[in-house]
Amino acid sequence: MTSNPSQPLIQANTVIRNIRQLVTVAQQPIPGANGPLQVISDAALAVHDGVIAWIGPDNDAEPMFQHDKGDATERADDIVIVDAQGAVITPGLVDSHTHLVFAGDRAEEFHLRRTGVSYGELLAQGRGILTTMNATRGADTEMLMGLAQARLDIMRTFGTTTVEVKTGYGLDKITEETCLRIINNLNAFEGSSIHKHSQIRVVPTFLGAHTIPPEYRDRRSAYVDLIIEEMLPSFVGLARFCDVFCEREAFTQEESRRILTHAKELGYQLKIHADQLSPSGGAMLAAELGATSADHLDYASDADLDAMREAGVVATLLPGCSYTLRSPYPSARRFIDRGLHVAVATDFNPGTSYCENMQMILGLAMSSMGMTLEEALTAATINGARALALQDQIGSLEVGKRCELAFWSISDYHEIGYHFGVNLVQSVLVKR
Ligand code: NIG
Ligand code: FE
Repeated sequence: MTSNPSQPLIQANTVIRNIRQLVTVAQQPIPGANGPLQVISDAALAVHDGVIAWIGPDNDAEPMFQHDKGDATERADDIVIVDAQGAVITPGLVDSHTHLVFAGDRAEEFHLRRTGVSYGELLAQGRGILTTMNATRGADTEMLMGLAQARLDIMRTFGTTTVEVKTGYGLDKITEETCLRIINNLNAFEGSSIHKHSQIRVVPTFLGAHTIPPEYRDRRSAYVDLIIEEMLPSFVGLARFCDVFCEREAFTQEESRRILTHAKELGYQLKIHADQLSPSGGAMLAAELGATSADHLDYASDADLDAMREAGVVATLLPGCSYTLRSPYPSARRFIDRGLHVAVATDFNPGTSYCENMQMILGLAMSSMGMTLEEALTAATINGARALALQDQIGSLEVGKRCELAFWSISDYHEIGYHFGVNLVQSVLVKR
């Protein structure tokens, strides 16, 4: 085939062709794309060194990928053509809130709650997070690593390509550091053999302020001091974010302010578990300190939401918790109509949301939080990226962004959320 002189030549080392629908979630209009998600039918996508170099109709793809060799242009032999075989492709899903590193489980507490015991009561009894802290402190590094890798593999199977992972089950300096090192090592985890070239991107968060450990029960300010004076300075470079569980059963607004202010001075970006079980002042604090996201927000007031919007704080909703705790789902409409960027995430953890599957979360976002498909997919991709301050690199399929893709074995993206309880993702592709 001869090249079309009116078309520029694109340098690429991989071209993905035969894509039934490319759901770009682009933030700028794309020629040939339709609707708020900017969907291109019968599309192709070219990648160079892990970066998206071109997207467009498959029919236009052939002449684009030539090698310019001085006077002559010829089709490069070293371009890898991937046949998507009519798959639907979206950005890889971004799970921006998880507690992936822990040992043990809390099935017993889950079933106790079916009989009416509340999550808060269990925590106040020294169970809940502390049950998992004990199991985690008692596990060796290799075991914790193996558990985390297995969970990461499951997440990838369901379409996740970026995951934020928090510590918070060590609650002493040694175990918190061990967990942070495990999280950082996960970034290099190759995964099971069929996914060898699709490493998940892992974003580490320090959540030493998850709850007060038993040895500090009667001197809680000493634990806050330990976080501020010893843990935060030691963990610079190991964690990108610092998070705090700002809640009646955990840390007060003032304690959270002390920890996060210090973290910010050390260069951490901030997140807050805010207003989950009661109005905690967490959302207001997120706005005051310019946190990247405030998460949960079940009890956030309209004034809280307005303050967050003005400060540019992403609202991360976690419907897996409402599902598990049988508490009312937050109304995503309320957040969206007030002009906030809303992300959704699994909150994968053994207490309130034991779920690796972002497709389940997409379904709950639509069925129980009032989101449209367009809003839910936006929340699980580009807004998840915003909640990690990575929106310039990932979360949508646009020229210049990283190639991190989910391949769906469906014939139309409208099946997402509608066909539920099964895995609709066939694979992911991450080009590093
Ligand atoms: O996001 N709320 C605090 N942290 C977790 C639960 C952790 C746990 O119960 O182990 C959450 O819901
Ligand atoms: Fe959480």
